Amino acid sequence: MELILSHLWHITLAFTLLISLGGFAGIALLPLGLFDARVTIHNYYQYRHVDKPGWKVGWTWTKNEIILSMSGAFAIQQGNCSSYKFQYAHSCKKDPEIADLGSDASTQNMTDGCCRSGILSAYAINPAKSFSSFEVTVANLGMNAHVTAPQNLTLMAPGPGYSCGLLEDAKPTISSDIGGRRQVQVFKTWKAACTYSTFLANKVPVCCVSLSTFYNPNITSCSMCSCGCRDADKTTFSCIRQANELSQSDFMNSLDIVQCSDHMCPVRVHWHIKNNYMDHWRVKLTVSNYNYKRNYSGWNVLVQHPGFSQNSMAYSFNSSVLPSVGFSEKVALFWGISYYNEELLQVNDNRVGSVTTEILLKKDLDSFTLRNGWAFPRRIYFNGEDCEMPLPDDFPMLPNASSTLNPATNCFLLLLIFLAFKTQLIFTWP
Ligand SMILES: *[C@@H]1O[C@H](CO)[C@@H](O)[C@H](O)[C@H]1NC(C)=O
Ligand SMILES: *[C@@H]1O[C@H](CO)[C@@H](O)[C@H](O)[C@H]1NC(C)=O
Ligand SMILES: *[C@@H]1O[C@H](CO)[C@@H](O)[C@H](O)[C@H]1NC(C)=O
Ligand SMILES: *[C@@H]1O[C@H](CO)[C@@H](O)[C@H](O)[C@H]1NC(C)=O
Ligand SMILES: *[C@@H]1O[C@H](CO)[C@@H](O)[C@H](O)[C@H]1NC(C)=O
Ligand SMILES: *[C@@H]1O[C@H](CO)[C@@H](O)[C@H](O)[C@H]1NC(C)=O
Ligand SMILES: *[C@@H]1O[C@H](CO)[C@@H](O)[C@H](O)[C@H]1NC(C)=O
Repeated sequence: MELILSHLWHITLAFTLLISLGGFAGIALLPLGLFDARVTIHNYYQYRHVDKPGWKVGWTWTKNEIILSMSGAFAIQQGNCSSYKFQYAHSCKKDPEIADLGSDASTQNMTDGCCRSGILSAYAINPAKSFSSFEVTVANLGMNAHVTAPQNLTLMAPGPGYSCGLLEDAKPTISSDIGGRRQVQVFKTWKAACTYSTFLANKVPVCCVSLSTFYNPNITSCSMCSCGCRDADKTTFSCIRQANELSQSDFMNSLDIVQCSDHMCPVRVHWHIKNNYMDHWRVKLTVSNYNYKRNYSGWNVLVQHPGFSQNSMAYSFNSSVLPSVGFSEKVALFWGISYYNEELLQVNDNRVGSVTTEILLKKDLDSFTLRNGWAFPRRIYFNGEDCEMPLPDDFPMLPNASSTLNPATNCFLLLLIFLAFKTQLIFTWP
């Protein structure tokens, strides 16, 4: 079974769920009314990961199938097995819902690629941890032992937002055996695709962008009410966001307490244009968490800006430039460095948690300008969610004053900055 997720935005993305039947105990089981299947969930979303508390996948059996046993994951409910001859069965529910085991699972319950507590990395960040696998033995197929695909796949990853298509026949999965000298093929493989939609997730925006520059003391903060409006009472510190009204779980609701602000976003991304050198420019990027009860582990930030078509270097984040299709501007993906800032911490003692880096970008002298807000990002995404940008009319303006400097002063300043920059390079570049 294969599940593919694709994004409305133009970077190539997919999320695959692959179910293969029979490669393990083999088709020989079918006459007994049993089959073995391996289910693999692939996250091909480049910059959307599956965070705590992890994925849950569900389906509806079309006949009277039951799950006799399972490894690498578990069915959340066993259901009523009393009318089956397999009373010890793992789950007899018509619509089982499956969740991942943790790394503390006992070895006999484990299988290849399992047991990461349902957490999947974004594909562009760590492809080796962007998939999850488990195995099921299915019983009670009836007399003709004919295998039909389950229907109505559901995926919570972890909340709502994904919708899955039908499981369709795909090329039988081939794997290698005897150290790669023999290829074995499974009996049957089905594949389905699931796509994420912010609209389905029923999310009010979760993130906003603020801007500042070295050339203008004015800061453009996030627009008022970017993610909802705060109470009229301005003396309270903590506010409840009017978010996720459709999500019934207490888990989601407890996540909605944020530090009060005019924007009411749980996350703010700040872009500060810090320096303008002769052939480089420098930006300081800060991501702040306004939640009282939520850390973002494995966070990522995607920035769309034409400047990333040139070389760039982030000092305190891991980064990569993604291929973009149908966009003239390049996109760069940033994420935390292991054991340093991969966790974006919640508000502590009323100070927001934050992670920050400086980014050095090379200039394309034909296009670089500080005019008309060119140096500001076009779009920013946090964990795959679009961040609300301020209106261009509110961007910090480039003052006209520089043209009043006499040419000699200009040259002197340029030289100084250039020297300072070269020195910096020597100290910070390995
Ligand atoms: C799948 O969902 C559709 C629409 O809700 C429903 O008509 C159909 O009976 C479901 N399939 C099964 C096997 O329950
Ligand atoms: C894991 O193993 C234990 C016995 O060691 C068993 O009781 C349990 O049902 C197993 N869980 C799964 C998901 O197979
Ligand atoms: C379980 O299924 C049996 C047989 O269909 C039925 O008699 C029994 O009432 C069911 N038990 C529950 C708790 O639903
Ligand atoms: C900063 O903002 C104030 C108030 O909006 C405005 O009067 C002033 O001109 C701005 N300063 C600059 C340098 O743009
Ligand atoms: C967030 O991380 C901090 C520090 O590791 C921890 O004290 C806190 O309990 C975490 N919050 C949640 C909701 O897990
Ligand atoms: C950056 O990310 C890559 C891929 O996840 C990883 O191999 C590398 O160790 C990371 N670098 C740092 C400094 O964390
Ligand atoms: C800069 O110049 C433009 C046109 O020359 C003018 O409209 C604008 O008000 C000036 N801005 C400042 C901050 O002086």
